[in-house]
Amino acid sequence: MVKLYMTRCKNNSNSIKMEGGSPLGGSVRIQGSKNAALPIMAACLLIPGKCTLRGCPDITDVAYMIRLLESTGAGVEVSHTAEGIDISIDAGNISGCRLPSRYVKAMRSSVILMGALLGRTGEAYVDYPGGCVIGERPIDMHLSGLEKLGAQIWTEGNRIHAYADELAGAQIRLPFSSVGATQNIILAAATAKGTTVIKNAAREPEITVLCEFLNKAGAEIILTESFWTEGRLIIKGTPLSKLHAADFDMIPDRIVAGTYMFAAMAAGGSVNLENVPIEQLHSVCAVISKMGGSITYSPKGKTLKVSAPEKRELKNIDFIETDVYPGFPTDLQSPLMAAASTAKGSLTIKESIFSSRFKIAEELRRMGADIVTDGDTAVIKGVAALSGRNVIAHELRGGAALVIAGLAASGITTVSDISYINRGYQDIVGDLRCLGARISYE
Ligand code: EPU
Repeated sequence: MVKLYMTRCKNNSNSIKMEGGSPLGGSVRIQGSKNAALPIMAACLLIPGKCTLRGCPDITDVAYMIRLLESTGAGVEVSHTAEGIDISIDAGNISGCRLPSRYVKAMRSSVILMGALLGRTGEAYVDYPGGCVIGERPIDMHLSGLEKLGAQIWTEGNRIHAYADELAGAQIRLPFSSVGATQNIILAAATAKGTTVIKNAAREPEITVLCEFLNKAGAEIILTESFWTEGRLIIKGTPLSKLHAADFDMIPDRIVAGTYMFAAMAAGGSVNLENVPIEQLHSVCAVISKMGGSITYSPKGKTLKVSAPEKRELKNIDFIETDVYPGFPTDLQSPLMAAASTAKGSLTIKESIFSSRFKIAEELRRMGADIVTDGDTAVIKGVAALSGRNVIAHELRGGAALVIAGLAASGITTVSDISYINRGYQDIVGDLRCLGARISYE
């Protein structure tokens, strides 16, 4: 039995039970960001020294990434804190570039280790990540980006083998601003010979903090005005020998913050969320305001107070389309759908990032929601109330959204298959209990 590092979620519970219908109230601190922590952990493979990443989330995906790093020979130490976990990664001695299938397949973002391993050892073997419940997730942009940097890539059965005698800087235009492809290219280009320019790079905060961390460790990645306007990212390759250990304080998780904002909107009441990256949540705050919620922010403790409208008179906005940052995030599309299910009027959601991210609609309908999906579009007509049911999580954000629906519904809801939720939420039950919810692991 492989020991995972998670302590907060009960590893042996498979479901979450809640009694909905009561407004929320209370305070909770937002955990460190999953999608920032994973690529920065991967980046540590490039650095021949001990880096400490403070305030990482204690979640399954981070535990899988630890296993993957250890499989390369890197030393990893984990210490638990009140906020999450601090992870020290010492990649002074790397002996392997074959990543174990078990963990590669468990977590799609393992693919970004290709760039880091190529940069560090000139070689990487990883499994081809398969399809995914939120839609097809090809890695063509990752592979063609690495090839442009000089890697030779071929498949052996279901495994991808990448090899490079030497990586060299290149001009790479991404057809779409893929977060993962941008990260993979940054990781490989950081130690390549010469300068790489990525055009149409992703601009998510998880990209900028990866660059910040690498620069702290001696890399030279330049984010000028044109990065913000057109995604032009310049990476001046630094010899491996010039990279050095660096520590980093993880940024808070904007998606977890957004999830709890929609929980308050759906269940009613008023909550204080501490450690909120408000500057990353403008599109979300705009939606909350249009739905009738009110938001106040105090820079002290980065505390965001979110209050649902009186008497739960939530209004639906007519239309929203998910988009790359700073647009409305696809990762909050399901939490919004859950909140919109009992709001007045109707909402049309167009999902522009992933081809199949409406699995939750079926479960919400079982709770009484009126939702029709057609391809990339979902139409939600708000109903007076949802009813508690036994529902099943099919993926991470959809699972969290079912918890939101359960808090808004009358009666008891049980969400099963919560291992999906544990991939990204350190302790959704503990957090929501701090916010006054009647909720427990089962
Ligand atoms: N795409 C391609 N080819 C590629 C790469 C991507 O066609 O080579 C497509 C994808 O299929 C998808 C779109 O481009 O339709 C966007 O994918 P992107 O590469 O931007 O996403 P990702 O890197 O796979 C990260 C987050 C996701 C988040 C997306 C979008 C991590 C570990 N994952 O995924 O987070 O939804 O960016 O912001 O950072 C989550 O946390 O629940 C989650 C799914």
